[in-house]
Amino acid sequence: MSDRLIEALRQTLGDRGVIDAPSDRARYEQGWRYGEGVARCVARPASTAEVAATLRLCAEHGARVVAQGANTGLVAASTPDRSGAMVVLSLERLNRTIELDAAARTVLVDGGVLLSQLNEALLPHGFWFPVDLGADPQIGGMVATNTGGTRLLKYGDVRHNLLGVEVVLGDGTVVSMLNRLRKNNTGLDGKHLFIGTTGVFGVVTRAVLQVAPRPTQRTTALVACRNGEAVLGLLQALERDLGDVLSAFEVMGQKALEAVFRHHDLRRPFAELPAYSALVELSSTLPSSALALDALLEERLGAHAETTDDAIEDAVLGSGEDFWALRHHITESLRSDGDVLAFDISVPRSRLPAFTRDVAALLARDHPNVTLTDYGHWGDGGTHLNLVWPKGAVADRQALVTTLQDAIYPLAVERHGGSYSAEHGVGPHNQRFYDRFADPAVKRLCRALAECCDPGRLLGTVRLD
Ligand code: LAC
Ligand code: ZN
Repeated sequence: MSDRLIEALRQTLGDRGVIDAPSDRARYEQGWRYGEGVARCVARPASTAEVAATLRLCAEHGARVVAQGANTGLVAASTPDRSGAMVVLSLERLNRTIELDAAARTVLVDGGVLLSQLNEALLPHGFWFPVDLGADPQIGGMVATNTGGTRLLKYGDVRHNLLGVEVVLGDGTVVSMLNRLRKNNTGLDGKHLFIGTTGVFGVVTRAVLQVAPRPTQRTTALVACRNGEAVLGLLQALERDLGDVLSAFEVMGQKALEAVFRHHDLRRPFAELPAYSALVELSSTLPSSALALDALLEERLGAHAETTDDAIEDAVLGSGEDFWALRHHITESLRSDGDVLAFDISVPRSRLPAFTRDVAALLARDHPNVTLTDYGHWGDGGTHLNLVWPKGAVADRQALVTTLQDAIYPLAVERHGGSYSAEHGVGPHNQRFYDRFADPAVKRLCRALAECCDPGRLLGTVRLD
């Protein structure tokens, strides 16, 4: 049976612009962690005008659309549902423009440009886009999810580094807000509607980003901490003494590192793994002749350890690469270990130890076969709790997932004043908790905005209203 929408898209975008064979569609239908659906087809526009034409055609045919960047998201927001009726709008061909204005320290990029591609282009000019993470997303997807990552402590999230956007609304209207100014205080800054709202108000086709001078030296230490309080003590001391040069403060729980060593032949930093290993990174654009970061870090860690009564058990200074390799192998090592249910939670930093202890107590009491593995961005109050159980050990996986989510998200949000999605955004994976925790007045506002930006209500797989 012929599909009139697919034919019309093919006429507009050409053969390369449309994929409808099931085997070719497959990689657009499966998310990295969650999300598994069936697409009506994949549209691959190569310009803003083609994105607009695609959305106009989908609106005319009443077809729902999910925008997709590099499909590295972690809440199932970039894949179609199972209906077979949704069009995946992939931005992967919209990836040509990278225009640097070195004196202004801004760059104009197409939404489909990969983070790695952008940083490669910035490297010869001594700049980088400092929203840094293990995956390699597209810039448009980073805007839609307001990506955080491992250096948020120093540089902030996407919102802090985004000056302007161009978006296409649900009916195909192009809205250009490509502000290049750092100072432009002239009423509504409409870009914020499209940051972290998962593509439900429009599709990001271009962005103006602020870029940062690339540090010329980095130094890294792994610090063995006896417990969560020791981690917070270290963090406070480092911020107080070295705040300007502290660029990452990541934490890896004992079980997270045990999983990495089970699956990878990497160098062990400590003979015995401590409760928490804190990865501390200092960086600077100053040359080491002007500021010796290695010596500074060693001296500060030594001085701090002396005041803490053995709460700091050990510290190793070393190659950042080794330590970051440990950090970046956690997620995938846990997947090899068993069935994983991931939480991306933030609480006020002061609450991190108490929150984690509450979850551990809950699991010990009600789910003794579930292992709590925690790691994450303690510098920003972020913790990735990954709950792991042996594959096949649980008869009804979905029932267990629901029970655990229903217990842990309220603990984070209601008891500890936290967020049920610190940096991964909102998607089908956590829609139920958006519905539960978002303020009804905010939902009403989102409905009005959605009706204005996407009159047919065709965009995205989540609802913010
Ligand atoms: C990380 C991803 C899971 O921090 O956000 O590793
Ligand atoms: Zn993270």
